[in-house]
Amino acid sequence: MSEEGSSFRAPKGTRDILPPESWRLEALYDLARSTFAAAGYAPIETPAFEHTEVFARGVGETSEVVNKQMYTFPDKGGRSLTLRPENTAPVVRAVLEHNLHRGPLPVKLYYAGPQFRQERPQKGRYREFFQIGIEAIGAPGPTIDAEVIELGHRFLRGAGVEPRLKVNSIGHPTDDCRLGYNRALVDYLRANVDDVASGDRGRIETNPLRTFDSKEERTREVMSGAPLITEHLCPDCKAHFERVQELLRAVGVPFDVDPRIVRGLDYYTRTAFELTAGGLGSQDAVGGGGRYDGLAQSLGGEYLPGIGFALGVDRILLAAGDEGPSRRSQVDVYVVAAGEDAAGPAFALACRLRAGGIGAEIDHMARGMKGQMKDADRSGARWAAIIGPDELAAGEVTLKDLKEGLQERVAVDDVEGRTRS
Ligand code: HAM
Repeated sequence: MSEEGSSFRAPKGTRDILPPESWRLEALYDLARSTFAAAGYAPIETPAFEHTEVFARGVGETSEVVNKQMYTFPDKGGRSLTLRPENTAPVVRAVLEHNLHRGPLPVKLYYAGPQFRQERPQKGRYREFFQIGIEAIGAPGPTIDAEVIELGHRFLRGAGVEPRLKVNSIGHPTDDCRLGYNRALVDYLRANVDDVASGDRGRIETNPLRTFDSKEERTREVMSGAPLITEHLCPDCKAHFERVQELLRAVGVPFDVDPRIVRGLDYYTRTAFELTAGGLGSQDAVGGGGRYDGLAQSLGGEYLPGIGFALGVDRILLAAGDEGPSRRSQVDVYVVAAGEDAAGPAFALACRLRAGGIGAEIDHMARGMKGQMKDADRSGARWAAIIGPDELAAGEVTLKDLKEGLQERVAVDDVEGRTRS
């Protein structure tokens, strides 16, 4: 930090998103709006914090997110609140609370905003990070599964990321499906417990599926011989998964089936998927999602199937670099005031242009002519509208085309018409 700088820094794991990166962030939000709205998804905002129970019950007590990463605090009334670590449980809570599911189904929503997880910060991993996500609630699929996955894939490509898509089905929790599989997996892990890294042994009883996510070499070796969920799916889940794959193939979305994708949140059923991108190091997941047919019931509601995804905006920005869509400040005209008398009229012209939908900037630093022309270049404006004593007397401006270098005098009243592109 420079000596003149403030002694404050943004808290660990958070960051300021500054121009020009902030323009790229805006462009991503624009792209989200246009992509998802065109498929019938409507925006939703939920609070940045919820009752802790929403996550404890919704996301699940055995998930690391709930166990280790939540920012949980009591408010002054003694209620336990939590900064949202993800937005699927809040969206389902909102749907149930406001009875959106009593209207036409599926309820299709998209969101964009900050999430909070107390993780160890590293490249692409923050404690406050931004997600763009969609949730489709009320349709048992499989067409909606394919729609959601295709939208996520297409959005990322539009954002300048070439994603790799991995899909899996983790079945549903009955004896002839995931529960049966879980038992087979636990039996296998118990039989091989001596080869599992000691830090991973606790998971065998609490959340055996998560053992697939271990970073420990020893555990990974054991997992390479573990039974796979895809071999234990019940006929309905199997047929559902096959249909999702057929639909994706039919629209040309490339994917790999990866039976080791298990996802970190407990609410998933059936379809689970992950999108990764190159150049991100170990945090290469740019998005993930899946079906959560039991979530509404975990939150005390009725059976209400759903599917969605969330994409990590910070990681998209990192992966896309300059390839991503961008939007710069949209200034069309820089109004140059030559001399003090011109300052008021320059301000008036800028206001009039802005009111007419034309981007306009003026100098606020008492720069001379040369300094203002330089600032006009910085602004990205196509035109400089120069007002000096002569122009003032004639009710005109000198309009200079900064791209072509040509200039001419025009009446003040004509500037708007001449500069509208
Ligand atoms: P998730 O896999 O936990 O899923 O997060 C989705 C994405 O958010 C990740 O793939 C990653 O890009 C980004 N992300 C997560 N944690 C961080 C972090 N600490 N720093 C930066 N980026 C991060 C969910 O959150 C589910 N709610 C997705 C979903 C929606 N499933 C169904 N509907």
